[in-house]
Amino acid sequence: MKKKFLALALAATMAASMTACGGSSAPAPATEATTVAATEAKASEETTTEGAAETETEAVEAKAEITTVTPGKLTVATSPDFAPYEFYAIGEDGTPTLAGFDMELAKYIADYLGLELEVVTVDFDGVLSELQTKSVDLGMAGLSPDPKREGIMDFSDLYYMGGQSLVTVKANADTFNTFEAINKPEVSVGAQIGSIQMDLATTNSPDADIVALPKVTDIISELLAGKMDAAYIETDVAKSYQKNYPDLEIVMDVPYEMEGSSIGVCKGNEALLAGVNEAIAKALEDGTMEKFIAEANELASGEKYEGLLDDAGNAQTAN
Ligand code: ARG
Repeated sequence: MKKKFLALALAATMAASMTACGGSSAPAPATEATTVAATEAKASEETTTEGAAETETEAVEAKAEITTVTPGKLTVATSPDFAPYEFYAIGEDGTPTLAGFDMELAKYIADYLGLELEVVTVDFDGVLSELQTKSVDLGMAGLSPDPKREGIMDFSDLYYMGGQSLVTVKANADTFNTFEAINKPEVSVGAQIGSIQMDLATTNSPDADIVALPKVTDIISELLAGKMDAAYIETDVAKSYQKNYPDLEIVMDVPYEMEGSSIGVCKGNEALLAGVNEAIAKALEDGTMEKFIAEANELASGEKYEGLLDDAGNAQTAN
């Protein structure tokens, strides 16, 4: 279940891309210019006051070195079950549009790099495998820089700080509100397949009946239908769905070490990683990211579609 979604055409022509990130070939050759630019970009984030002009020049060189799976395009995988990060907002004409601050940031990065954005929507475990097989350039899905994923992708700098929660419904808020209370075989505890929430479930609730579902929106439905007792969900996502479904209740914070969201970058694509980090730094610095977050939160409290679109781009009636 995968749909290519052409989001924005910002195409400034990219000169002859060399080997794409994907395919069977080795990672894009790192020329000296790329390596220097990447190092400069990193250094400039740590000491923002130094060498801004020099970094600008290097940035231009770095962009020219960037290769992507489809030349001229930035192909980004996402999993739109994760408001306010990524979700389908229902427009005035009733059609679902891919929205969320990850999607706005994706457009911003594509624009920054002079590439045309193409978004591929899959379930979250699909985002991981698209990166692993180097079928996409980036994975933008509120992705945690989990060290276990280091073998299959590189991580950008963090662009958002979130947290983890245990979620249930109001009627059960006094029952399922400690790790102890939910760590029982008769208690069903949900988490999204492939996510770090799955690890939180197996670590904190090893004796519970752990239910792994492909979409966070499936988990929310199960909770609301009383088919699931509790679930591990990213805090801001839980808060966002809670606005539409006030019956949801966040019962406790769940500690997690690698807090924060980063972008998964096709492994070994140093020039792209450097470019992405530059764009993130810029968006964080000039208030753009803040604006994206505010807008996404606003949109996410309106009507939204939960699930993936079918191949024709329409909302699926049954999921
Ligand atoms: N932050 C968690 C992780 O990286 C969950 C991300 C899920 N994202 C999504 N769009 N459903 O594992």
